Amino acid sequence: MTSDPAARAGAILEIDLAGIVENWRLLGREAAPALCSAVVKANGYGLGATPVARALTAAGCRMFFVATLDEGIALRNALGEAPEIAVLNGPLPGTATEFVAHELIPVLNDPGQIDEWGSLRNSLSAHQGREGVGNLRSQPNAPPAILHVDTGMSRLGLGAAEFSAIVEHPPPFPWRAVMSHLACADHPDHPLNERQRARFAAVAAQLPRAPASLAASSGVFLGPPYRFDLVRPGAALYGVNPQPGRPNPLRQIVRLSAKIVQVRQIDRGESVGYGAAHTVEAPGRAAIVAVGYADGWLRSLSHRGCGYLAGMRVPLLGRVSMDLVTFDVTAVPRALAHPGAMIELLGAGYGVDAAAADAGTIGYEILCALGSRYHRIYRDSAGTDRPE
Ligand SMILES: Cc1ncc(COP(=O)(O)O)c(C=O)c1O
Repeated sequence: MTSDPAARAGAILEIDLAGIVENWRLLGREAAPALCSAVVKANGYGLGATPVARALTAAGCRMFFVATLDEGIALRNALGEAPEIAVLNGPLPGTATEFVAHELIPVLNDPGQIDEWGSLRNSLSAHQGREGVGNLRSQPNAPPAILHVDTGMSRLGLGAAEFSAIVEHPPPFPWRAVMSHLACADHPDHPLNERQRARFAAVAAQLPRAPASLAASSGVFLGPPYRFDLVRPGAALYGVNPQPGRPNPLRQIVRLSAKIVQVRQIDRGESVGYGAAHTVEAPGRAAIVAVGYADGWLRSLSHRGCGYLAGMRVPLLGRVSMDLVTFDVTAVPRALAHPGAMIELLGAGYGVDAAAADAGTIGYEILCALGSRYHRIYRDSAGTDRPE
């Protein structure tokens, strides 16, 4: 028996925190003089919001975005008081006081959320004595919030008429920022980019005291007119190429290696895996590794994905199953393909965007799907390993 979790784990996920900091700095240089925040929603795109945000806080990042209240509370507990934490989905009905208690900045996406935030003082009096909200009861108004205006994505955010009404009748609290979100920033030539930029510039001009924020990862690379005062990159921090089809200026952050459980000889004409969906055309060797769709190694990588064993590309055979994937290791020397040897599934040679292309998805989904069974190793700037 071993007590070493790395020895027990079927697969190891290494996360390069120093690389995330490098990527954040690169984005900050690109966006300057706009400030660079960091989007760490969905548990830091699957990589761990707490270690990622701690590393970025140490590097000087002062503002984080998450999607949900629960994500915001967890991050506040992990980071302590200093950085600002904004919650993109805003307060769901009845939750505004929780934002105050945990010092979270809500992004207000529609008139209902603005009303609820504006009437916060009334609801706070109903929470007399509750921990964390006492400091607000002495304030005249609700704390600052971020206003989200829709400029062409038709997802969250105020429509044009709703925004005009807000400008005419401002709510009883200040705007920490005004933001919008680009629908097509990864396609620089898409005409919606310029339409959204122009609409947003007009919106921001009507709230001159509120810092303006439009660009996420890809928007940063659309040029200075898109950067305004604050940029909100997420995916690019984690190595996803913000400019598909062009060289990726960002570092790969994840390395995923799975262990070989068994190596077997497969004769010509035999089939591999569920559905007998792959038939072997020449005798060879197959390595079965301990990763599957339960770990986020997507089933759509069946027949299409690949791995690397000792630097050699090994094609994925047949279907991805729940806990196992099969690779063709016929071309790899026998001494290298044995139980316990590692096949690299994600890394410098085959990054998140390459896996996404094979899976018919985007790098974001490859990252967010990364599962909970991996043994995770975080590498920080000192090069030390910090299993979480
Ligand atoms: C409103 C908003 N801002 C910023 C981001 C970060 O986007 P990206 O990961 O493309 O940088 C997202 C992500 O979906 C978002 O919804």
